[in-house]
Amino acid sequence: MTPWDDLRYHHAAHAGRPILELFERGDRAAHFSIRADGMLFDYSKTAIDAHARDLLIRLAEASGVAARREAMFTGEKINETEGRAVLHTALRNLDGAIEVDGKDVMPEVRETYARMEAFARDVRAGRVTGQGGRISDIVNIGIGGSDLGPAMAALALAPHADGPRAHFVSNVDGAHVHDVLAPLDPETTLIIVASKTFTTIETMTNAETARKWMAAKVAEPAAQFAAVSTALDRTTEFGIPAERVLGFADWVGGRYSVWGPVGLSLMIAVGPENFAAFLKGGAAMDAHFRDAPFAENMPVMLALVGIWHNQICGHATRAVLPYDQRLSRLPAYLQQLEMESNGKRVAMDGTALDIHSGPVVWGEPGTNGQHAFYQLIHQGTRIVPCEFLLAREGHEPDLAHQHRLLAANCLAQAEALLRGRSLAEARALMEAKGLNGDELERQARHRVFPGDRPSTTLLYPKLTPFTLGQIVALYEHRVFVEGVILGINSFDQWGVELGKELAGALEPILSGREDAAGKDASTRMMVDYLRSED
Ligand code: F6P
Repeated sequence: MTPWDDLRYHHAAHAGRPILELFERGDRAAHFSIRADGMLFDYSKTAIDAHARDLLIRLAEASGVAARREAMFTGEKINETEGRAVLHTALRNLDGAIEVDGKDVMPEVRETYARMEAFARDVRAGRVTGQGGRISDIVNIGIGGSDLGPAMAALALAPHADGPRAHFVSNVDGAHVHDVLAPLDPETTLIIVASKTFTTIETMTNAETARKWMAAKVAEPAAQFAAVSTALDRTTEFGIPAERVLGFADWVGGRYSVWGPVGLSLMIAVGPENFAAFLKGGAAMDAHFRDAPFAENMPVMLALVGIWHNQICGHATRAVLPYDQRLSRLPAYLQQLEMESNGKRVAMDGTALDIHSGPVVWGEPGTNGQHAFYQLIHQGTRIVPCEFLLAREGHEPDLAHQHRLLAANCLAQAEALLRGRSLAEARALMEAKGLNGDELERQARHRVFPGDRPSTTLLYPKLTPFTLGQIVALYEHRVFVEGVILGINSFDQWGVELGKELAGALEPILSGREDAAGKDASTRMMVDYLRSED
C-alpha cells in the first residue's frame, strides 16, 4: 500500500464520523493547532484525526519534501522544465550566500536592493521629482505576479502608507489604464513598468498608453518612468534610462517576486523600513518552515490539510476568507500563487498525473462574503473547505468594537460550519414561532444546517508589515509542499501560453487585416459580430 492508499483507506473507514466527535478525545484544539512566531493556525475543525495526520506526514516524508525544501533553499535548479533555481527566499534573507551555477548570487541581490532602497528614499523625500515637482502618485503597470503582489500588499499595509499614493494598472482593457490615470497629474506622477519578461502584451500596451498620456504634458516622459525586469535589453529599447531600471534574476518566479524589485511601488508607498519588516516576516516564516518538525510546521500542515481536503476527500475548491478588509486582494493573489503553481496535468517527468492537481481557490473578505456566497457553503450540496484569517487587533483603536464584531463573525462562521443545526433544533425553532403540522415540518427542513463542514483558521496579532510577510511566505511554502507531494513542477506556467499565442493571431483578424478562415465556426461567428456595425 502506498501512503496515498493508506490515506484513502483511512478516510473511507471513517466516512460519516462527525468532526465534532473528534473533540471528545483529549485536548483536540491544542493538539491540532500550531503556534509559531505569534501566529496560531487551528486545523482542529477538520476531520483529520491523529492517525490521518501521521499518514499525511508519512506521505510528505515519502514524497521527499525535506530534501526538496533543502534543494530550493540552496539554489538547486528545481524548476526543471525551465532549468532554473527557485530562490525568492534569497530576496528576504539578504545576509546569506547562495550559489547558482557556481556563483554567489547574493552580492548582486544586495546591490539591487540598495539601489531600490535609495530610489525609494529619493522619491519619498522629493529628491526624484517630476516636471511639476514632488512625486504625488506612482502607477505600477504590470500584470499577474508583477501586479498582484504589490497591489495586494499595498492595500494590506495601507495604514503604513506615508509616501506617494500607489496605483496599479494591469488589465489590457483600456478602461483600467484610463480610469487610473484620469484623475492623476502627469507632471507629478511616476510610472513603474514592472514585467519580468518585458514582453507581456498587457503591460507593454499599457506602458505605451501611459507614455503618450505623459508626453502630452511632460517634456521628458522617460525621466518619470522606471522599470523592473529581468530583460534589461528590452527596458533600454523601451527608452527607460539604465539608472531607472532594477533587474532581477530568472530564479525569481513572477508570482514569487513581490519581495524584490517588483515590490518597488510598495516600498515607495510604505517606506524602506516597513518593506524591510515585510521581508523579515517572510524570513521568519522561512526559518520556521526549514526548522520545525513536520507536525509543528505551519506551511507543511497547511499543505497537508489541503491535500487531505482536495486529493483525499475530493473537495475541488477551497475558499480563502480573510476577516480583514485590507486583505481583500489576498484571494486574488492566492489564485495566481496556488493555481498557476499547482494547476498542472503532468508530473515532473511528463507522465500524466493519476491524482487531481491543486484545487480551485476563491474567496472574498468576511463579513461581506457572508451576505453573498456563504449560503452555498453552509447549505449547498458540495463541501467547500474554508480558510479563515483574522487579526487579534485592528488598526483603528477607536473602532475596537467593530473589530470585536468582525472577530465574532469569523469565529461564528467556523462554529456554524462545524456544528450545523439539526432537524430537531430547527423544529423547535419553528414551534417557538407558533407553527405546527406539515407547515412546521416543511419550514424546519429549510432551516437545517448539516454542519460537519471543515475549516481552518489563521490568527495573527495585527496586520503589520512583518505579519504580512509571514502570511505570504506561509502560503508560498504551502504551495511548494503541495506541489512536491503531487510530484509536479510548481514553478513553471506553460498553461498560460496557448491563449497568448491565439490572442496574438486574433488581433489582426479583429482589426480586419486578416480573415478568419481556419478558425472554428463559433469563433468566426463572434468575429463577425464584433466587426459588424449593428
Ligand atoms: O501569463 C502568466 C505570466 O507569465 C505570469 O506568470 C506572470 O506573473 C505574468 O504573466 C506577468 O509576466 P511578466 O512579469 O513577464 O510581465
